Amino acid sequence: MSIFDVAVWKNGRVCMMDQRLLPDEEVYLEFDSASEVADAIRDMVVRGAPAIGCATAFGVAVEAKRIAALGMPNFWSEAMAEGMQTLRQSRPTAVNLAWALDRMQPLLESTPKEDVPKRLLQEAENIRLEDIESCKTMGRLGAEILPRPTDRPLSIMTHCNAGALATAGYGTALGVIRAARDLIGDIKVYANETRPYLQGARLTSWELLKDGIDTTLLTDNMVGHIMSKGLIDVVVVGTDRMAANGDVANKIGTYTVAVLAKRHNIPFIVAGPLSTIDLQTPDGSGIPIEERPADEVTHCLGKRSAPMGVGVRNPAFDITPAELVTAIVTEKGVVPDPNTAKIKKLFE
Ligand code: MRU
Repeated sequence: MSIFDVAVWKNGRVCMMDQRLLPDEEVYLEFDSASEVADAIRDMVVRGAPAIGCATAFGVAVEAKRIAALGMPNFWSEAMAEGMQTLRQSRPTAVNLAWALDRMQPLLESTPKEDVPKRLLQEAENIRLEDIESCKTMGRLGAEILPRPTDRPLSIMTHCNAGALATAGYGTALGVIRAARDLIGDIKVYANETRPYLQGARLTSWELLKDGIDTTLLTDNMVGHIMSKGLIDVVVVGTDRMAANGDVANKIGTYTVAVLAKRHNIPFIVAGPLSTIDLQTPDGSGIPIEERPADEVTHCLGKRSAPMGVGVRNPAFDITPAELVTAIVTEKGVVPDPNTAKIKKLFE
């Protein structure tokens, strides 16, 4: 289903496309342990909340295989706990990582030891396939609520990469865009560059062009100007973690886009599966925001673009308050004007 092997099981190992090399090279890497997969998550070989969840699940499965092969029956649970803890600490914001671990953990305890590696692998594969299905459903539901201009193509802005590359396949925000292309036909996408890591420029525009979707790249500071010219009908983004009240953590810059969308009366839609909703965190203030290395800001594509000694901040995500969100799209339905009560209902 996926056009890319974002995180799959191949030849008894975890196989992932190295997203750091896109759009120049399509290289696949293979991993044999939880700590290798954790490094790959931290180093951005794989990124995007649902894709991180899938990679984590396969990381647990490959760790079980590795430990079983070592034949250490007495150390089995301690060794697995260590591998899972390493995965848990790899990146803090996308809740899908903890969600995947929490889904694998009970199986580790309830399955006879000799069957654990097979059972964990089966569960990781379930997570992967379910994610693709969720993306397809979100795509269909999201496309149905988009505006339909009659005199010109529907113009959609997106931020960061919430595409096939960020999920097990098809994408959340880009899933809505793919479904809109099928449902509405004439669409146009404005992809924000997404400084400093350039997910919009390197990944979203690459992925959409591969799919034949009309895509225009903007730097992040062009968003207000382009909106003020009436060029955007709707914004659709993904999320790394949604708090119980509908506050949305997503890639840095999303909040700015949401404020500008409000200013220009443009609907702001967030697409994310239930695995990205964190009911334990009442609002966005409780979501941990990852601070990434300074050289992502002082350098652009490997070349220094700021003087030595300058102070740097590099928060990788920001929080968009629920009041700026027109609707959230999940695989269980669309929630307009999200709040705690409406989100809780999705889980009933
Ligand atoms: O730092 P990244 O590239 O992992 O951040 C990804 C995002 O912010 C995406 O928008 C989000 O994970 C949604 S992916 C369907």
